[in-house]
Amino acid sequence: MSATEELRRDHIQVRRFDSIVTKCYTALYGGGDVPLGDVEKIARVMEEFLDAVHYSREEDSYFPCVASYDHLRREMHVLLVEHEFSRRVAVQLRRYMRRWKEEGSDLNAREPIARYMRAYSVYISDHLSKEEDFFDRAEAEILSKEEEYEMYEQFRSVVATSKKLDDLMGDIDYLESQPWAA
Ligand SMILES: [Fe+2]
Ligand SMILES: [Fe+2]
Repeated sequence: MSATEELRRDHIQVRRFDSIVTKCYTALYGGGDVPLGDVEKIARVMEEFLDAVHYSREEDSYFPCVASYDHLRREMHVLLVEHEFSRRVAVQLRRYMRRWKEEGSDLNAREPIARYMRAYSVYISDHLSKEEDFFDRAEAEILSKEEEYEMYEQFRSVVATSKKLDDLMGDIDYLESQPWAA
């Protein structure tokens, strides 16, 4: 198994999640009934799967390994800046979710949530395709089989210590089956 393959597999889940986010903001804009609890699950997947699991695999293992060859630095910098952008969007989402909780789900809370979700979705599709080109090049031009295997093992060992990833995939299954996501 290889680290690059594992990251591509994460991206399959991230694309599933992107289509949930798209359905959610479309429903919010259209005045559809999206419970706050579902919006909270979406924010949780952003923070605990995309950020804490997937970005961490990229930022703490994969990118530093590629960077040690002094190659693809500019491309990597762009990807890191985009991660920061998505973190800022997630913070804004939390802020308006608090408003929704405190003041009810009027337009003042729902409109910014829809807007930030749309920004997040635009970010995801662009970021993933850019990053997949990066993976193709890193895999073909830089990483050795041993490095791929070691990083893969590292990814697995971190996940094996927590059941969290299964829970988060369960959240994605749940969100996909909600009426507003039909
Ligand atoms: Fe990324
Ligand atoms: Fe990624």
